[in-house]
Amino acid sequence: MLRISAFRLLGRTGASRLSLLADFNLRHYSSDPLGVRDDTRDARAYFTTPIFYVNAAPHIGHLYSALLADALCRHHRLRVPSAAATRFSTGTDEHGLKIQQAAAAAGLAPSELCDRVSAQFQQLFREADISSTDFIRTTEARHRMAVQHFWGVLKARGLLYKGLYEGWYCASDECFLPEAKVTRQPGPSGDLCPVSLESGHPVSWTKEENYIFRLSQFREPLQRWLRGDPQAITPEPFHHAVLQWLEEELPDLSVSRRSSHLHWGIPVPGDDSQTIYVWLDALVNYLTVIGYPNPEFKSWWPTTSHIIGKDILKFHAIYWPALLLGAGMSPPHRIYVHSHWTVCGQKMSKSLGNVVDPRTCLDRYTVDGFRYFLLRQGVPNWDCDYYGEKVVKLLDSELAFALGGLLNRCTANRINPSGTYPAFCTTCFPSEPGLVGPTGRAQAEDYALVSAVATLPKQVADHYDNFQIYKALEAVSSCVRQTNGFVQRHAPWKLNWESPVDAPWLGTVLHVALECLRVFGTLLQPVTPSLADKLLSRLGVSATERGLGELHFLPRFYGHPCPFEGRRLGPETGVLFPRLDQSRAWLVKAHKT
Ligand code: MSP
Repeated sequence: MLRISAFRLLGRTGASRLSLLADFNLRHYSSDPLGVRDDTRDARAYFTTPIFYVNAAPHIGHLYSALLADALCRHHRLRVPSAAATRFSTGTDEHGLKIQQAAAAAGLAPSELCDRVSAQFQQLFREADISSTDFIRTTEARHRMAVQHFWGVLKARGLLYKGLYEGWYCASDECFLPEAKVTRQPGPSGDLCPVSLESGHPVSWTKEENYIFRLSQFREPLQRWLRGDPQAITPEPFHHAVLQWLEEELPDLSVSRRSSHLHWGIPVPGDDSQTIYVWLDALVNYLTVIGYPNPEFKSWWPTTSHIIGKDILKFHAIYWPALLLGAGMSPPHRIYVHSHWTVCGQKMSKSLGNVVDPRTCLDRYTVDGFRYFLLRQGVPNWDCDYYGEKVVKLLDSELAFALGGLLNRCTANRINPSGTYPAFCTTCFPSEPGLVGPTGRAQAEDYALVSAVATLPKQVADHYDNFQIYKALEAVSSCVRQTNGFVQRHAPWKLNWESPVDAPWLGTVLHVALECLRVFGTLLQPVTPSLADKLLSRLGVSATERGLGELHFLPRFYGHPCPFEGRRLGPETGVLFPRLDQSRAWLVKAHKT
């Protein structure tokens, strides 16, 4: 693993420093220059978002789930360029009591409500630049066929039986609850009503004959799976939480409801009096998308990464792997879990009237701006609070000033009149600080910058692997700050192109800063695709030079030719990211929310 800090480089003398740099160069110019490619990993990858309930319009929490998956998927594509190697699915969860009740309350047929809200999700994801390859609706015929087939496999393997189910059911969460998970709260009329302890949503007592899945048989296999694969659920606290749950008894699971009660769903094959439980129906979407039950699905299934919110962890980390094991398949490869967004300290809910509309946010803060905000501020391990002022401050400081300002400083006509990528002068900035001669101008901090940016892609890849995308962005932002410091330190605006003494150093300062910008642009592609495109195009980086495999940072420093030297910068000179605090009158209002 490449981890050479400037401190280590600078702190050593002569031969040992040289050998460190030789190692560094070797690594830098090996077939995996940045150490970000994982050859043990199948080039294929299949990313999924949860499928979204269509009882209400999308909010920023839903967009966040989709953005995390989008960023992971786009980062994978940067590592493994062949587009055919990646699939990314999202969609809508359209069956069940929750939707049936929401449609009745809206005076609509369930299918009408589904069409309407599913279209809103599709439009939002298009507008937010979610690069999904599949959008699934559980009301599609292909899905009904897959679910019924899956049911048939469980039945044939003796894992379903008919029995009396008696207990609490929460329609909002679409789940069964034991007595211990139910509490009483005053309802609208002041009477005490039973609600779910976890979500606070109302529950009702159900007693009916259902099909039941032998979930209890899977407690030990699930424990073995999780103990044997510590990265199965990331971040670690969620992995730990699931193992804790599995310490307790795991009761069998009711997987159907009486059709007279729940008609909006997929009928149990061979028994129309029962409708398949919506969570079983919904989870199978991940298989439907990859062609199940046709054998083609087998080449995708082992590469599956589910991105989910913490509220649906039990369904994905216990029920789903158990169902899969029951049907003769392996559990998902990875489950990435994130926490929730609150608004001004409160849970987002229709009844509190504090639901933040993501389309308004995309409009206000720009698509890339809002994507950056959610992914930069969203921390998977705990909940994050949303308020408008925070968005403006972050985007202005990191995208408009730091990144946009840096680009502007290095490309503006008055400082770079030739409009090209200037040449790097190896005597001004030799590959080792000890070699700095009379013409050398580089200082210790400049070597620290080079070292930081050289290791950035690997750091970023590690953060993606650990599902800490905000840390990847933090690392990029810190390097942007360091690069601005570099430019400030050497004040290229005070140097003169006409002077034979200044010119090579002036070119070198700009060259190094542009190289840093090229790294930042490449690494920002998964989060801010349009902004990164604008940045890379301005630097003259072509479409085939934007993958991680092609990202040879500062090659001239390491004694290699640089394909960018002397290249014309792109013609688009516009602002990289607009300052929000100046440009929009509505901000006065947004600051108050
Ligand atoms: N339909 C089920 C998922 C079935 S997947 C086989 C469902 N849908 S949902 O619409 O309620 O939630 C979809 C995703 O949005 C979940 O990952 C959930 O955690 C996420 N979010 C819902 N509210 C959220 C926030 N306030 N903040 C962040 N994410 C949130 O559950």
